[in-house]
Amino acid sequence: SSMEALSLSSPMSPPVILTQDELKKIAAYKAVEFVESGMVLGLGTGSTAKHAVDRIGELLCQGKLNNIIGIPTSKKTQEQALSLGIPLSDLDNHPTIDLAIDGADEVDPHLNLVKGRGGSLLREKMVEGACKKFVVIVDESKLVKYLGGSGLALPVEVVPFCWKFTANKLQNLFESSGCVAKLRNDCKGEPFVTDNGNYIVDLYLKKDIGDLQVASDAILRIAGVVEHGMFLDMATTVIVAGELGITIKNK
Ligand code: 5RP
Repeated sequence: SSMEALSLSSPMSPPVILTQDELKKIAAYKAVEFVESGMVLGLGTGSTAKHAVDRIGELLCQGKLNNIIGIPTSKKTQEQALSLGIPLSDLDNHPTIDLAIDGADEVDPHLNLVKGRGGSLLREKMVEGACKKFVVIVDESKLVKYLGGSGLALPVEVVPFCWKFTANKLQNLFESSGCVAKLRNDCKGEPFVTDNGNYIVDLYLKKDIGDLQVASDAILRIAGVVEHGMFLDMATTVIVAGELGITIKNK
């Protein structure tokens, strides 16, 4: 893996305190520099990816990019892209994607990710799994020593049918990591429903779950599970924006 650091301010200039949203925007704009005319682009979901989609729309509008086809990873991103006039298609028509840009909830030192706090993990995994290049954009708060290390949950998309049964199986699977499985609710206290009509069970872990590939396989073997939010060995580049500048990590 290689690393490249770019400073945001010259050594002599006074320190600039940036908000988390400004850092997200810096990472997003940097990622859009990888976009070239004629590309089929996976469009991510979330507050960081939103900046990238805005920027792509702006460059298209200014005529600085041409012939882009966007493949959105959620209904929300689809609406945003449509409102910006970005031409859209889907994986059925474009099974190979040149480049995807998306945020993440956690990034470990091997560039494995946790995604899905926004609930779009299934479509994200389908689209980003079909990409030649997958550029992840984060502010430095997303970097962790191991997945689960931020104290945030590992999201699992499950079918609504007898979700408690599935949630119990998931909790038991990670019992030794002190796992608590909780159904995700929306702001009205109703079950959160994904774009695919499913529910999300959030797994809160107290410890490292060990071998991630073994954990992934075990989760996917449980009937009722649709997909989980660990994105293992998928990111090709991670762009991290921090107070001291931008760091680009390549696989
Ligand atoms: C949605 C995701 C998002 O990319 C992830 O939650 C990061 O979101 P944000 O950029 O708002 O911090 O995986 O399913």
